[in-house]
Amino acid sequence: MTLRFLTAGESHGERLTVILDGIPAGLTLREEDLVLDLRRRQGGHGRGGRQQIEQDAAHIVAGVRGGLTLGSPITLEIANLDWQNWRQVMAVDAAEVKRKPITRVRPGHADLAGMLKYGADDARNVLERASARETAARVAAGAVAKLLLNEFGLRVRSYTRSIGPIEAPIPDSIDWIAVDASPVRCPDQPSSEAMVAAIDAARERGDTLGGVFTVIAEGVPPGLGSYRQWDTRLDGLLAQAIASIPACKAVSIGDGVEAAALPGSQVHDVPVYDDGRLRHQTNRAGGLTGGVTNGEPVVVHGFMKPIS
Ligand SMILES: Cc1cc2nc3c(=O)[nH]c(=O)nc-3n(C[C@H](O)[C@H](O)[C@H](O)COP(=O)(O)O)c2cc1C
Repeated sequence: MTLRFLTAGESHGERLTVILDGIPAGLTLREEDLVLDLRRRQGGHGRGGRQQIEQDAAHIVAGVRGGLTLGSPITLEIANLDWQNWRQVMAVDAAEVKRKPITRVRPGHADLAGMLKYGADDARNVLERASARETAARVAAGAVAKLLLNEFGLRVRSYTRSIGPIEAPIPDSIDWIAVDASPVRCPDQPSSEAMVAAIDAARERGDTLGGVFTVIAEGVPPGLGSYRQWDTRLDGLLAQAIASIPACKAVSIGDGVEAAALPGSQVHDVPVYDDGRLRHQTNRAGGLTGGVTNGEPVVVHGFMKPIS
């Protein structure tokens, strides 16, 4: 069965809602299982003021009974605490709504493109949904998906590779305790400190910084995804998922970006039969060949622009 999800909700509306369809029956699911991922999304150095207002928690309203999933659609709700300050501006009722139209469109936000698309005369109608607040709902859906993957021994984790001009040296084996301890989720401590300083300096200048994050899925069995059709290739599906994150402007799989400048002899992973199992001597392809997982960890990098 295909797993899919839809989200709804405005950034300063009453709540975000996510419906997750395709999770099998019998998976243990409690609200507290979703807290860690939502908290991680809110962390980091140099966050905006909104993160101080919100304390995201997902409320399970459908699809679970007695702590176990039912196989029916799962509905999660995340309240927007900031809504209290925006009740009139965001009122659903025509008699209650107070409009103060935003007409000065901001560079790098979805304001102008969205106003042209939907014929809006108020950028608020655009930014409320284009805002990255929506990703809180995705994180809640992803946290449920990770619980399912855990049942099969899969582990999905991420770290920060660079922020602005600071690029961390990344060893083959990631120190995940150091990642969790770093305010910017960087495994290399000197780089982590330099990143914090770079963020502070940018803030001081009234500027912003982008960066690169890496997601690694371990324990992935060979054979997920298919070259059968363009839209069944897992590399394409992962690139779409990452590029759909607001402000994420590029995606690379494995050493994809670096490989473009190297000769083939330094790029391809040689399969070997080793100690009773098939593996590759290297994992430059990031665990995907032909859009199919090849048994190595899946490694995906996302490139964020500096936000407006
Ligand atoms: C950390 C972060 C904060 C954001 N804050 C806002 C915001 O305050 N207001 C807004 O309208 N969009 C916000 N966004 C959304 C994006 O700025 C914007 O919709 C998007 O970057 C424009 O489209 P793009 O994905 O092509 O860059 C934010 C995105 C991120 C990643």
